[in-house]
Amino acid sequence: MKKIRVLNQISQKGLALLDEQSYRLTEQTEEAEAILVRSADMHALDMGSHLQAVARAGVGVNNIPVSRLSEAGVAVFNAPGANANAVKELVIAAMLMAARNLYTAADYAKNLDPAAGDLAAQVESGKKRFSGFELAGRKLGVIGLGAIGVKVANAAIGMGMEVYGYDPVISVHHAWHLNSAVHQCERLESLLQACDVVTIHVPLLDSTRGMLNASRLALLTKGAILLNFSRGEIVDEQALKTHLNNHYLHAYVSDFPNAELLSLPNVLSFPHLGASTLEAEELSAIQVIRNLKSYLEQGS
Ligand code: MLT
Repeated sequence: MKKIRVLNQISQKGLALLDEQSYRLTEQTEEAEAILVRSADMHALDMGSHLQAVARAGVGVNNIPVSRLSEAGVAVFNAPGANANAVKELVIAAMLMAARNLYTAADYAKNLDPAAGDLAAQVESGKKRFSGFELAGRKLGVIGLGAIGVKVANAAIGMGMEVYGYDPVISVHHAWHLNSAVHQCERLESLLQACDVVTIHVPLLDSTRGMLNASRLALLTKGAILLNFSRGEIVDEQALKTHLNNHYLHAYVSDFPNAELLSLPNVLSFPHLGASTLEAEELSAIQVIRNLKSYLEQGS
């Protein structure tokens, strides 16, 4: 009987794969042979000597001390691709929200006050104030051409955008299932200089932490939209604050709320919602638990 510690809420459809004859859930991390995790930070967690595997029901593994575990012979699994569609849909929604000023416009409409005067006049004033721009014909830069970046790029082509791709490792010619209309950017700098909308889809690694530093952020065009559905630490948000404060950027949309940026009018944040759909949560849990089981059952 293997003991599994579940650190976050994991889809029941996935957990149901852990049959009662072979697996038991435990509250004691020290006795666990495997840990199932979503976003809980495991760096300070004392994991015990029975641990054989850690399974992340998601893609990013920056909340897991991968090197320390590998040195101890503990396997780490994630669920690549399982939430790519969920993230893509949120990125497209966020892009549209920013281009059409939908978040401030919806807030404005919610606070219309018929008692304070002519409602039609208030609507008319909002109509002028929140006029936006269309995405068709605009240039989108996709940084990172893994499962999520490719889906975002393809969807944007479908919306009539001109798409540029940059990846620190692979070229657009080698990215899987990428629409052939996507242009290759050899350098991140040229993508930042060329695009109206830039979206980040690289994992958080030592090599990508602070990738959008002060000098690269300075290359963004005036009125650009920057989207970060990857990890907050990839952008030097302190440096970004200056561009946002002087309204150089149209919007910064991030799935990782930053205390210092939250209140700025051109910042739109979500509470890490990228993978939070019924479908992605189920698929991530099923995918990673299947892999975990086959690993734990090898030779047993
Ligand atoms: C991921 O890295 O896949 C997401 O952050 C998943 C999540 O929200 O748990």
